[in-house]
Amino acid sequence: MIERLQSDDSLVVAAHRGLKCDYPENTLLAFQKALEAGVDMIEFDLRRSKDGKVMVIHDETVDRTTNGTGKVGDLTLAELKRLDAGGWFGPSFEGLKILAFAELLELLRAYPEVLLNVEIKSSPDAVQTADQAVALLKEYGYLPRCVFTCFDASIIAYLHDTYGLKTQGFPQEEMRNFVPGPEGTYSKMWAVAMSMKLLSPQKVDDYRQMGLLVWSYCPDDDRQMYYSLGCGVTLVTCNNPFPAMRIRRQA
Ligand code: G3P
Ligand code: CA
Repeated sequence: MIERLQSDDSLVVAAHRGLKCDYPENTLLAFQKALEAGVDMIEFDLRRSKDGKVMVIHDETVDRTTNGTGKVGDLTLAELKRLDAGGWFGPSFEGLKILAFAELLELLRAYPEVLLNVEIKSSPDAVQTADQAVALLKEYGYLPRCVFTCFDASIIAYLHDTYGLKTQGFPQEEMRNFVPGPEGTYSKMWAVAMSMKLLSPQKVDDYRQMGLLVWSYCPDDDRQMYYSLGCGVTLVTCNNPFPAMRIRRQA
């Protein structure tokens, strides 16, 4: 099912951490709103709590996106759930909670066509996070609609070699533990995600020659969208997916 990304005749729009432009990132509400808006894919970030539960949160600490402090990995599920994950974005979002991965998987039951970009955040227990995420996704039957992303090339290789999964990495200069050469990291990747600052027609062409799918993140306005399209990119991950979806409708 994820293979449909290989067809480049239509624009594929992913919501970065949910509908991040209008709602607190990586919350259930942000994903619900992105799904209601009709995106093709959702992107989200996974880390483990102190007691080994897979949680949906981007940063290493809870400081930026909650009213608490400290590392995600130093707090239990119960402690994480006591935090407010919405008030930082605006008073009307107070009361939102950090999301456990299993809660997101429940929401996705209602959206069987939606694809998942599962980012395993780099951490000392990233392998365990990956193993648990894969097990949960398998239990729910969602693996065929997933691509797995990581900035750590050793995790990309692990997911590719151990599970035969489709992976998305980044340009060499942005990855840790990158292995050059014909059997190195690029050979373990199915796709590469390029930030707007690195995106160029030449780079897109180079990656395509290597057999990689190319995503751009995050083209959030018309100018960035048309630049991405001009570079030959048809896979986009957006904080604001509405310009991309409008451009797609007009095509
Ligand atoms: O899809 C790529 C993108 O999610 C990577 O950036 O900072 O959101 O993890 P970041
Ligand atoms: Ca991410």
